[in-house]
Formats: sequence, structure tokens, C-alpha cells
Amino acid sequence: MTSKFMDVRVAGVRTLTPRVTEYLLAAADGRPLPRYEPGAHVALHMVSGTRGPIVRHYSLIGGLEGDDDPRNVYRIAVQREDRARGSAFIHETFRAGTCLRITPPVNNFPLDRRDASTLLVAGGIGVTPIVSMARSLARRRCDYRVVFAGRSPAQMAYRETLARLAGDRVRFHYSDEQGELDLRALLSAQPALTRVYICGPAPMIAAVHAAGAALGWEPDRVRSELFTAGPMGDEAAFEVELRRSAKVVQVSADASILDALRLAEVPVLWDCARGECGLCPLPVIESDGPIEHRDRYLSEEERAKGGSLCICVSRIRGSRLVLDA
Ligand code: FES
Repeated sequence: MTSKFMDVRVAGVRTLTPRVTEYLLAAADGRPLPRYEPGAHVALHMVSGTRGPIVRHYSLIGGLEGDDDPRNVYRIAVQREDRARGSAFIHETFRAGTCLRITPPVNNFPLDRRDASTLLVAGGIGVTPIVSMARSLARRRCDYRVVFAGRSPAQMAYRETLARLAGDRVRFHYSDEQGELDLRALLSAQPALTRVYICGPAPMIAAVHAAGAALGWEPDRVRSELFTAGPMGDEAAFEVELRRSAKVVQVSADASILDALRLAEVPVLWDCARGECGLCPLPVIESDGPIEHRDRYLSEEERAKGGSLCICVSRIRGSRLVLDA
């Protein structure tokens, strides 16, 4: 996949919870932004004076009540993570008028509105694509339900939005009061052939997939999108040499190898940017530190050999990586 960047400016800022802030992004030249489907996300490309390039991916939430023209702005919500520098950078520096570059929308979490029954499950800030999906299903009068889990009402962005949008189709689960959500009981209570969409933290996603498998569901009846905070605070920058292209690219602590190569305008194949699709692995010639495989595509055997790595999510614990590219 290749895509051009778009120049946008921050057109609105709104605090949703103590840790979550909403940002509206409008095209810098005032033109309408490309359309997108529920589940799509954009990548924000930012440059910090002290930290270098930062890239983060955020789901597009769409218009809220009374907003009839979501093409003119993209709405994202950013949760400030204690150990993630990208979200802190956004919270600290984004103000109305801030300019940045984004990629056009990409959708790795498409909603199939033809299903007879749909269950949307959100965990924490994973609610953002779920709001967009619920609105789409509600507009088309589809049969759907929503479960939104978080620690407490005060920490759950878009809780009221979902309540207004979905009415008695939404159920809230507050884990501080109610403990863990019983996902197997939730799935087993759904009408036959219900398809589930889950967005939230990795353990919650894994638990929903496991619950579906335990009930004998076809794997594609559970679709997921992982919410990640991006690289954590203890990442280190390193250098990548592309031996065949005779290029050297710096990978900052706040960007993936894929981000750095794209910023350097090196043509690379990629799609999911989450370590799932298997389009981006590149052969490794040498590395002066161990490879940290973070994908869900390579086999254990391939990882152990260290012959390739998924450049969208994996890194090295070292200072120099040489790729056969
Ligand atoms: S882009 Fe899909 S695995 Fe890297």
C-alpha cells in the first residue's frame, strides 16, 4: 500500500475525561476530506523538536449529534498514556490551529452491515471505532447491540454519546464495581450467527476470540482491532541500513521502522500496520542487538531464526539493523 500525506490543522479541542481529549482535524486548504467507512483510522505524523518523528494511529469517530457533514472534519480521541510519549506530545502541543500531516483513512476493521445480528464490544478508548459503527447500524435500522466496558463512568469517553445513539441497545459495564466482564456468557446470549466487533486492550480482544472459539464459533465471527498506545517510553532510537538500496534511515523512539521508511520516501509494502497481514516483513542481514518481534504473523520458528521482521511493529534492542531491501 502506498498513500500520500494530507496537511491538516486542528480545528477543535474538547476534554472528554481526565485522560481523553477529542481533536477535530480539518484540511489545511479548507477542502473536504476523503470519505471513510466505519472502522477506518488515520496515522498522525508529527515531529517533536526533542524526540524526532512521532507516528500514531487513531480511529475516526465520525460526526456526533447535529453534525451532518463529517466529511469536513475528522474526529479523533487521544488517551494520554503514562508510558507513551506520543499521546503526551499530542496533549501537550495540540491547540486550535496546530498543523500536522496525516495519511488518508485506511480501514482494517470493516463493518459488514449485511449480517442479521451484530454485537459491538468496546473496552476503554477502544470505543472510538465502535461509536462510528453503532451510528452506521442505527441509521440503517440494523439489529445490533453494544457493550462498553471501562473502569468507571467518569473514565469512559463517549459514554453519553453511545447512550443517546443506541438507547436500550447499549449496556455499560463498570469493572471497578462489577469486576471482569463475563465474555463467554455475553457471546453465548447472542442470537444465532451474530458477528462480534471488538476494539480494546489486547487481553480483552484475546478473551473475546477465546470465548468465541470455546463456543465453537467460526473464527471470522469475531473481528477485532487492537488499541495500542504505540511505542512505550523505554524504546530507543536505532539506525536501519537498506543494503540493496544503499540508504540509511534513522528510526526514532517514537516511530516504527515502517514509519521511518515511509517518511524517508522508501517504497515499502504494507497494509495493516499492526503486525497481522504479513505484507511488510523484510529480510534481516544483521543486527547488533536482539530483535523484538511484536507481530502476530511470523511463526515461532521464523522468529527464532531471526531471518526477517515485520517492520510495522517490530524493533531491535540495539543501535544498527541491516535489511536486505
Ligand atoms: S503491515 Fe501488516 S504485518 Fe506489517
